[in-house]
Amino acid sequence: MSELNKIALKIISNGKGILAADESNGTMTKRLEAVGVTSTPENRLLFRETLFSSESMKEYIGGVILYDETINQTTKSGKSIPKLISSSGALPGIKVDTGAKDLANSSEEKITEGLDGLRERLKKYYDLGARFTKWRGVFTISDNYPSKLAIKCNAHALARYSALVQENKMVPIIEPEVLMDGDHSSNICLKKTSEVIKKCFDELTLHKIDLSGIILKPNMILAGNKSKDKISNEEVSIKTLECLKNTVPSEVPGIAFLSGGQSEVEAAQNLNLINKNNKTKFIMTYSYGRALQQSALRIWSKNTEDRESTQKIFNHRVKMCSLAAQGKWSNELENK
Ligand code: 13P
Repeated sequence: MSELNKIALKIISNGKGILAADESNGTMTKRLEAVGVTSTPENRLLFRETLFSSESMKEYIGGVILYDETINQTTKSGKSIPKLISSSGALPGIKVDTGAKDLANSSEEKITEGLDGLRERLKKYYDLGARFTKWRGVFTISDNYPSKLAIKCNAHALARYSALVQENKMVPIIEPEVLMDGDHSSNICLKKTSEVIKKCFDELTLHKIDLSGIILKPNMILAGNKSKDKISNEEVSIKTLECLKNTVPSEVPGIAFLSGGQSEVEAAQNLNLINKNNKTKFIMTYSYGRALQQSALRIWSKNTEDRESTQKIFNHRVKMCSLAAQGKWSNELENK
């Protein structure tokens, strides 16, 4: 078993998953302002530190994805954030892309940037304690999109990123996110997502990536958020599994889904059914941002010093996701 494979398995095995707390300052500012909290480095740290100190971290979280600001921060008690995360048994990870910019000659689409100087940044992050990384490519669905150009460029960038990350002894999370925005059907989402993931693996293979040392972070197969094609959770799970079975090489140890705008309960329910119906060998778990943090953030914003109430709600969410990652979630446990 390679070292990278061991790291990947440590993050996603035994009902554990990933807390995606790597919102850029811009995104975090929007999230904080939406609940009436001023976005300062201190407030961003306080919220994240409250989550990272929660009891549930020990049992259910295998890795936390951080943003550059957070990986460099220190708690009031003098512990660095990567140390706080590793003291719970989870591995610190870091988002290393520098964001999605307009793609030249297809300006309604995006290309993710961040390859320049990446090798040097990776060394610095490794020294700070990071053992895995994240890069997100983003794709929109419409009549003409995602274009072949957007699919090819983003897959290429994901592969070059992965090669540099593995060279620096860290596990790359490969996140090709096909957004749920639009009025497309779930079958279109299935077709487009399959095309995107296939192209990613073509490029990863070309760039000689050790596929046993990566984690794939895809979207689930959903109908567009403005679509009339409302499909059941059972259908979401079947179509998501069909997509992954046909596109992901067997060496890949696991898949950690993004929540992508699903509600907290929906994201748990769908992951649960994916695991109940999973006949592949892939571990299927969570790498949720909003679906782990939304309620906790709402409670925290009412009294930012009240760690207990925030942690209570976060612990419940994390536990529900972990149960879902084992196919053991139920409505009854959710509402207990
Ligand atoms: P969501 O679960 O909120 O979609 O965030 C996951 C993520 O890491 C997006 O890049």
